[in-house]
Amino acid sequence: MHITHLKGRDMSQEGIVREIEVEIDGIKTKVQAGSTVLEAARKLGIDIPTLCYHEPLEPFGSCRMCIAEMSVGSGESKKTWISTTCTTPVQDGLIVKTDTPKIKKERKLILELHMSRAPESPKINELAKRYGIEKSRFVTLDKGESNCILCGLCVRVCDEIILAHAIGMAYRGIHKKVLTPFEIAKEKCIGCGACAYVCPTDAIKIIEEKPILRIENWDVEHEMTYCKECGKPIGPKVYIDILKEKVIVQEELYDLCPDCRRKLYKSALF
Ligand code: SF4
Ligand code: FES
Repeated sequence: MHITHLKGRDMSQEGIVREIEVEIDGIKTKVQAGSTVLEAARKLGIDIPTLCYHEPLEPFGSCRMCIAEMSVGSGESKKTWISTTCTTPVQDGLIVKTDTPKIKKERKLILELHMSRAPESPKINELAKRYGIEKSRFVTLDKGESNCILCGLCVRVCDEIILAHAIGMAYRGIHKKVLTPFEIAKEKCIGCGACAYVCPTDAIKIIEEKPILRIENWDVEHEMTYCKECGKPIGPKVYIDILKEKVIVQEELYDLCPDCRRKLYKSALF
């Protein structure tokens, strides 16, 4: 479920910020219209586990870890349901319960499913421990070798932030996986590593073997650049070339690693 309408929807036609009153785990609060229930809960310091949520990216609702019980109204008109807090916008009079026995039970089941796909993920194992799960009852087709829970974060960061569109979800159902387009169009990958940075299960393997950077999951290799002062890796050449085009700074700064750049700035100041 891709929710694109949540952000930037917090003002009335007159440009006045509208506030909405909600109650989360017994605490009443007012939040900006357009906020999600997850954002409202986090403002109150309520800890809701998430796996597919990353603040700068549009919510996606795929991991289901952030579910909560929600209700509006009272008496005969009362409506109750369970939904993902990261994709649900706040609404007037909404009452949210994030940690009921029912929610704990559902989360345990969801976690077991994630564990079966990513048994080696430290984050999933930490959550499993918190929910008292020792072993998943489920087995996946790849027996958990991919370590990927198909949360889509890597695809979204590549699409929404990096704008490279180098990877996407391929196939369906139990065969679904993240790949470069048709597994052949690998030239769109610029080797920035954002996919590995956001991955909640450490499923994306990036290996640097001088002078090559290899992203195993996408089967791509990039020529690396190294600091001309200390020899530390700076980044893939193709990525540095894009930065050179888009961020105009002194050309020679691109030949230095962040530490050597800092030293250069300091020596120029004093
Ligand atoms: S590789 Fe990581 S970020 Fe990408 S879908 Fe799988 S778990 Fe999510
Ligand atoms: S964090 Fe809400 S569904 Fe994944």
